[in-house]
Amino acid sequence: MAATAALPAWAEYPEKPITLVVPFAAGGPTDKVARDFAEALRKQLGNIVVLVDNAGGAGGTIGAAKAARAPNDGYTLLLHHVSLATSPALYSKLPYKTLEDFEYLGMVNEVPMTVISTKKLPANNFTELRKWLDGHRGKINLANAGVGSASHLCGLMLQDALKVEMQPISYKGTAPAMTDLISGQVDLMCDQTTNTTAQIEAGMVKAFAVTTQQRLKTPALAALPTLDESGLKGFNVTIWHGLFAPKGTPKAITDRLNSALKLALKDPVFVKSQEGLGAVIINDARVNGPEQKQFVEAEIEKWGAVIKAAGQQYVQ
Ligand code: MLT
Repeated sequence: MAATAALPAWAEYPEKPITLVVPFAAGGPTDKVARDFAEALRKQLGNIVVLVDNAGGAGGTIGAAKAARAPNDGYTLLLHHVSLATSPALYSKLPYKTLEDFEYLGMVNEVPMTVISTKKLPANNFTELRKWLDGHRGKINLANAGVGSASHLCGLMLQDALKVEMQPISYKGTAPAMTDLISGQVDLMCDQTTNTTAQIEAGMVKAFAVTTQQRLKTPALAALPTLDESGLKGFNVTIWHGLFAPKGTPKAITDRLNSALKLALKDPVFVKSQEGLGAVIINDARVNGPEQKQFVEAEIEKWGAVIKAAGQQYVQ
């Protein structure tokens, strides 16, 4: 009787918990996307446990390097965002090659940002904020999650548009930064709505504007003007998130993950949670691996030009 061919290792994939590396601190905007997504992905992978591993630091490059070095067996994935595409212009020695060290599994969502301050700041709209900033040049603490992070980039663009330089205060993520903003240790931050919506709704911070071209529909954010209508013409920033695996992960596994991703993006619990925080689920061609890689390649070009124009190239 012919021996049955041994099943390839991936035939039963996944048969043990999967680690989802998040390159920022727990409790922050990317962590919120990741945990919502992990729950939706679990349901599409036979209820296998998806464990979130927060590996923060250096604007997300520490977590990205950890995922790039992980075994390419499908049991370590990375949920990352735009700073995967900004870091090449900001770090002269990245511990990984952005376009070569990852398998591109697909995009997840795009998250708007909000300009928020401590309640101690005596301004109650963007015009008053601009006046306060002008009057406090050299004494403004602007929180971010490290060089290359979304909050760092938005802060760079804000300073460039307002022509006001601010003192950057870096954290391992905007979750710890938010704690210091609420207590008044820092003055201002540009952060994603998956982190700021709850704080704005609870009246824990002051909110001045959103970074998108259109006002948001989320009830707690709907009254906020855009930066564009507040005078910063053309200001338009949203933070995309995507799913990645270490280079060399078998195609049968990356195909399995890509189809699970597409179904997870339709999970009603995931959609409700994310859209309730202002995020927009990505359902276009960028959800297919190869198109996601082309998109990230274009983002590296785009952000490289923005960073160079702001005179910030290779700050690390
Ligand atoms: C976070 O989750 O802490 C943020 O994504 C950090 C950032 O990029 O601003």
